[in-house]
Amino acid sequence: MQVADRLLKTPPYPFAELGRLKRKAIEEGVDLIDFGIGDPDQPTSSHIVEALRKAALDPKTHQYDETGKGLPAFRHAIASWYRSRFGVDVDPDREVLRLIGAKEALAHLAWAVLNPGDIALVPDPAYPVYHVASMFAGAEVYRFPLVEEANYLPDLAAIPPDVVERAKLIYLCYPNMPTTAVATIEFYRGLVEFAQQYDILVCLDMAYSELYFNGNKPHSFLEIEGARDVAIEIHSLSKTYNMTGWRLGFAVGKPEAIDALEKLKSNVDSGVFLAIQEAGVAALTGPQDCVESMRSLYQRRRDLLVDGLAEIGWKIPMPSATCYVWAPIPAGYSSAGLAEALLRDAGVLATPGSAYGERGEGYVRFSLTVQGERQEERIVEAVRRIKENVKLS
Ligand SMILES: Cc1ncc(COP(=O)(O)O)c(C=O)c1O
Repeated sequence: MQVADRLLKTPPYPFAELGRLKRKAIEEGVDLIDFGIGDPDQPTSSHIVEALRKAALDPKTHQYDETGKGLPAFRHAIASWYRSRFGVDVDPDREVLRLIGAKEALAHLAWAVLNPGDIALVPDPAYPVYHVASMFAGAEVYRFPLVEEANYLPDLAAIPPDVVERAKLIYLCYPNMPTTAVATIEFYRGLVEFAQQYDILVCLDMAYSELYFNGNKPHSFLEIEGARDVAIEIHSLSKTYNMTGWRLGFAVGKPEAIDALEKLKSNVDSGVFLAIQEAGVAALTGPQDCVESMRSLYQRRRDLLVDGLAEIGWKIPMPSATCYVWAPIPAGYSSAGLAEALLRDAGVLATPGSAYGERGEGYVRFSLTVQGERQEERIVEAVRRIKENVKLS
């Protein structure tokens, strides 16, 4: 059978490879401490599950989702959430679209706005979907570096003029996966000017907007004057409400971008189970203490891991957001080499930074969504095993 060239040119999805390594280690009887994929280990809150149960019992939800941009109640809940969370008023009929999680929209957007010969600007390191989807759409990809010295904010002025002229889309992600950085309002002001000057659509991946610490709430780009004419923000209920498997997210922003994405999606998917959108209403409008306790949980785990590793001589900057730790690796290792040593010698699974691009070389990523039970004890155990089995200097 023939497989399309676009797939042959695509490396395996990094987390699929991680899954393979993990299965192999478990088969070999390793007592694995899993800091691999960022999949929340806590259950979805009971009031959200209950909303699904009630809605699923109503036969009216058993049909195709023919609502166009999504269930009106869900879009209104999104608009109210935007107002209370960011102080931004959005029109639920023109500026909001429900999604089957963030990932599909980040991919489909490339198909909706890029032509062959266009350039997509993609950070390095980054979530792999941005560049793979841009390539699938036939566009060229220009990767711009995110470096620690610049707090992982890009230097937009350093992108060559001939690249910027052909660029139609820039992907960004703040709070950032994998680096954990948060964007500043100053950066966002410059970004509006950049997007206006070169007529580039900004796609801001905000999957981690609610995973912040010490009350330092990340901003929406749409808070900046002029941003709603140049940007689309992609949100996910996966991490905020521990709903990864439910597949629910939403896009907010420039109406033409929302319409283009809706048109593309209406040709390739058939919406989201209406009962799940009802559960989304319960998530966004219901009690938010579940989100607060999730932040505290990740903060405790973050402190245990970062402080624990510092005590054994591995100094890592303290993340101010996301459920990850982006760890510069000790001298003498490559990212993949260290990840391998951690797995082989300590039974600890972390992702090599190089899975996110060339600039991820020199780092490994620990996800604080530790799978299994007694997670805090497991983190302490991981630090002990690393101390005893992995050479750090
Ligand atoms: C940066 C980033 N964006 C988007 C997603 C996808 O989220 P969803 O589950 O809503 O598809 C992830 C998932 O890990 C992610 O890390």
